[in-house]
Amino acid sequence: MKEYFSVKMRASLQGKHISGAERIVLKEDLPIVISQLSQRPKDFDFLNIKVEKINDLHYIEKSLNIKTFNVKDWIEGNKVAVEILQNQGVDKKVAEKYIDLIHQGAADGENMRGAMIVSLSGERLEKDKIRGVRTVNVDFEDRESITQLLKEKGYTERTVDAIALATKNLNHVSIVAEYCISDDPDYTIGYVATKTTYYRINPLKQKSNEKGGRIYFVKDTVNIEDLYEYLEKKAFLIKNLGDLQ
Ligand code: COA
Ligand code: AMP
Repeated sequence: MKEYFSVKMRASLQGKHISGAERIVLKEDLPIVISQLSQRPKDFDFLNIKVEKINDLHYIEKSLNIKTFNVKDWIEGNKVAVEILQNQGVDKKVAEKYIDLIHQGAADGENMRGAMIVSLSGERLEKDKIRGVRTVNVDFEDRESITQLLKEKGYTERTVDAIALATKNLNHVSIVAEYCISDDPDYTIGYVATKTTYYRINPLKQKSNEKGGRIYFVKDTVNIEDLYEYLEKKAFLIKNLGDLQ
């Protein structure tokens, strides 16, 4: 009987979160994975590693497909993003309003610590609007070969993490789309995920902007308790990579 564990790492510097990552691995791989994750952040004054046994593991056969749009600038990138969101039933004004908020810092001018949840009718539904909700407990079953394959195609480890997270999100019946920009001021590529595809948009934010965040667009019929339980608790391994388009 295989025993799986979740390993979560987070690090901060002077009280500011600077790095977070997670893996779902077999018990025998714990020492190597703990060592790898502990070496990820370069400059920190606090690092936490949490290891938890997973008793109820679920599987997703295939990740979202991946498609890249290279655009002139972040303004054009956001036009593309809004069009994709509109095709998923998100109202243009609703999309633009919350995208603007993310670019300006959705937690009173600072970054939220998790994602914003916005209904198709434009209501924010997070229990705590400064914190948001965080998606955890997801990984690729064979992370190594998927990372290698994506790197050969010019993607980075960051993309591997983001595709895993977005795949878990879009697997929930109430989430229709996700919008994401990093809070790293040097990383301007972002994405919009739909039920089938992870659209990597380059660029999606202005260089040097320290603001970032995620928006989960959900059906009006969403059950928020159920959604939190799913995002924060349910554990998934993703078996295969979707198509590279
Ligand atoms: N951003 C900012 N602060 C964070 C954070 C994040 N992503 N994750 C944790 N923290 C801080 C918060 O202060 C949090 O307190 P809060 O719950 O009141 O917000 C505190 O750490 C404890 O958080 P907790 O949820 O207990 O952390 P954890 O030990 O379970 O680890 C992580 C969670 C770090 C693994 C998860 O948040 C994460 O970052 N996963 C990786 C996501 C990923 O792959 N991102 C890349 C996609 S591009
Ligand atoms: P990152 O892609 O790590 O640069 O994170 C970009 C933004 O997404 C952060 O500023 C948070 O607002 C949000 N975020 C970070 N981690 C998570 C998570 N695990 N689930 C949902 N949102 C997150």
